[in-house]
Amino acid sequence: MSVATPSAAPPPAADAKEGLLEVSGLSVSRRERRDWVKLVDGVDLSLGRGEVLGVCGESGSGKTLTSLAVLGLLPAALKVTGSIRYRGEELRGASRRRLRGVRGREIAVVWQDPSTSLHPLLNVGTQLTEHLRYHLGLDGAAAERRAIDLLASVRVPDPAAALRARPHEFSGGLRQRIAIAIALACEPKILLADEPTTALDVTVQAEILRLLRELVDERQVSVILISHDLGVVSSLADRVQVMYAGRVVESGRREQVIASPRHPYTRALLAALPGGAGPRSRIQAIPGSPPLPGHLPAGCAFHPRCGFAVASCTSSRPAFAPVEGGTRLACPIDPFGPK
Ligand SMILES: Nc1ncnc2c1ncn2[C@@H]1O[C@H](COP(=O)(O)OP(=O)(O)O)[C@@H](O)[C@H]1O
Ligand code: SF4
Ligand SMILES: [Mg+2]
Repeated sequence: MSVATPSAAPPPAADAKEGLLEVSGLSVSRRERRDWVKLVDGVDLSLGRGEVLGVCGESGSGKTLTSLAVLGLLPAALKVTGSIRYRGEELRGASRRRLRGVRGREIAVVWQDPSTSLHPLLNVGTQLTEHLRYHLGLDGAAAERRAIDLLASVRVPDPAAALRARPHEFSGGLRQRIAIAIALACEPKILLADEPTTALDVTVQAEILRLLRELVDERQVSVILISHDLGVVSSLADRVQVMYAGRVVESGRREQVIASPRHPYTRALLAALPGGAGPRSRIQAIPGSPPLPGHLPAGCAFHPRCGFAVASCTSSRPAFAPVEGGTRLACPIDPFGPK
């Protein structure tokens, strides 16, 4: 997907700054022989009500592990440190019961592949009403009415008939809409969408992104939109966070990060999009590939791929520091900063 021209972002909701979700210093590590290897390294993230936070980075940058950590769904073999506060409550180390209560009811998730959330053998109505029965205690006619409303709200045509059909009877785009309806069943405060459009073709992608925007505007739900595609992220997010090799390297309001990217990696991601660096520009693939956890280059992990690297980039690890206008940046060289 090509990059969206930043338009005036809708004003944030009055309590956007309240911080529905505040993640700070989140690290996820795996054991390799006697060492712990960091897969996610000191990620900060904050989300206000009715806000869309876009998280972008190439495959392997730690986006999914960050979201699984927020949901309390990481395998026990991985070590998690840092803080995950939801409406002021610390979720790291919370009981399984509490985390089950938060998942689905407060923070719901939409995965890349809708079949992850949909049972292939059960009709859509059974799956939706099961969810409503389990989480909200609705039964019979009330659950069915609510299921029809939910399918209508995600623009599934003929919702009453859709309830009686099984997932394979729908196109990929409609399956993703149904998965979104299930995610919305308990009116969660946060929708965590991990590559929700990656398996879909471009026109269907745009429809799903439009639907997510409507849900944000109409329901004041907050969204964490995760994608490897900066074009997808830029079309919806109010704020953008760019990850590389497990760390956040640039974050700020969409207008700033997309129109005036400061980190060479953000620039490279944009230049790799069709039309990303200007209407007549050619796509420039990022040379090389991201490093694997446990094999990060010394200093700035991006330095072997960076056209602006200087000697100090190979020895000292850049701090993720605030620059002007609320942007944070992990590049002390700052080649695109104000001169
Ligand atoms: N369960 C796991 N155990 C060990 N390593 C993992 C696990 N899940 C992911 N990884 C590794 O952690 C890194 C980040 O993965 P992930 O968060 O899935 O990246 P992204 O979603 O950005 O593509 C990758 O190198 C991946 O191989
Ligand atoms: S710190 Fe150096 S290598 Fe890293 S992005 Fe900045 S200029 Fe490039
Ligand atoms: Mg992922």
